[in-house]
This record gives sequence, C-alpha cells and structure tokens, in this order.
Amino acid sequence: MSNKLRLGILASGGGTNLQAIIDRIQDGTLNAEIVLILSNKPTAGALQRGKLAGIPTLCIDQRHYKDRLDFDRSMVAALTEANVELVVLAGFMRLISDEFLDAFPNRIMNIHPALLPAFAGLNAQQQALQYGTRITGCTVHFVDAGVDTGPIIIQAAVPVLRDDTVETLSARILRQEHRIYPEAIRLFAEGRLRLVERRVHIDPPVAKPDEALLSPPLS
Ligand code: GAR
Repeated sequence: MSNKLRLGILASGGGTNLQAIIDRIQDGTLNAEIVLILSNKPTAGALQRGKLAGIPTLCIDQRHYKDRLDFDRSMVAALTEANVELVVLAGFMRLISDEFLDAFPNRIMNIHPALLPAFAGLNAQQQALQYGTRITGCTVHFVDAGVDTGPIIIQAAVPVLRDDTVETLSARILRQEHRIYPEAIRLFAEGRLRLVERRVHIDPPVAKPDEALLSPPLS
C-alpha cells in the first residue's frame, strides 16, 4: 500500500467539493488517494464525476435497506473493505449512526455551508439570509454524535450582500468550500491535526494563519 492517505468520499449531490478534492490530488497539492466514492443517490453527480476520474464508485441506495443501521452497516463494510483511512462527507445529506462513528473514531470530516455553531442543519444558506446576518461562510469539522456539532478544523467567511438569493450566496460560499476542504484534508494527511478536548490544534502552527486558514479580506 502507498503512503498516500486513503480517502472514502460520501456524497449525495452534484459533487463540486468532491471535484475540488480530485483537482488538488491531480495537481499534487494533496498527497491522498480517493479509493471509494459512495452515494446514497443513484443520480448523484458525484458518481459521474468519480467515473470520469477513474475512481471506484458505489451507490448504496437507502431504499433497499430496512433501516438506517442496516444502511450504515453496509456503508461501513464497503469503506472498511477499501481500507479507507479518512471518511470525507461532501454534501452527504444523511445523519451518521453511532456504529458508523465508532468504526472511524475522529476519522470522519464534514463540510457545512455556514459558520458553525450558527445555522446547523438543513438549508444553512437560507437560514443565514432569513436571519439577516452580514457574514456567513463554511466550516470543515470532525463529525461527532450531534448534528454539525463536532470539533472545528477550518472556517472561511463570506459577506452576505443586499441582493443575495440562496443561489448567489451558496455559490459564494461554495468557492470557499472548494478552498478549505482540500486544505483540511491536507493537514490531516500530514498528521498535523491534534484534538485537545473539543479544540483542533494545528501542528506546527501555520506561519500565516490568516492567509492559510481564513478567508481573503471581505469585499
Ligand atoms: C455543499 O454546499 C455542502 O456544504 C453542503 O451541501 C453542498 C454540496 O455541494 N452540505 C450540507 O449542507 C451538509 N449538511 P456539492 O455536492 O457540490 O459538493
């Protein structure tokens, strides 16, 4: 087996975050290998993107399973079989059972389109618009037993503009997602993330944290 970090990516949607990770692997920024792309939706664009990139894909259709635990067991079996070292949720719109968490302790990451702990759960961009915040963004975090409550690895902020719709705001957030998700995986791959209680320390500290980890200046 190579020394590349073995990623299993779970996605339910279009897969632009998956694509950003594929691109960073291909351009040599990220020393990792996607060994499996799993989706719960047969029509997920992520499966198409995986096939185009020559990556093994698997659809585990939840409709064919009697309950969530049964479904999760079959995902864990596929990820274990592929010797996955880090599970990456990239627009995976299902909750993860305790059994799944126990199979990959502190080895499941998620990206959420808001600055957690604000606007957890579904439709985070719409929540931010409705609430009227001036700033929102995205968060990469480790997954724990709660909904979007796990230890935060990287966040990036974007402005909310007066005429924003869910679509324009989501697009602005996605551009930052595509930047910080591969970066968080790179830090994990380099063994630089250390969990202290619920805080994630980065070893050694990044030289210019504002450049590496936070957003460009708001404009
Ligand atoms: C992303 O905005 C991601 O943050 C969000 O789904 C989108 C997936 O886009 N995830 C969640 O809302 C999870 N609760 P993609 O399929 O183009 O990567």
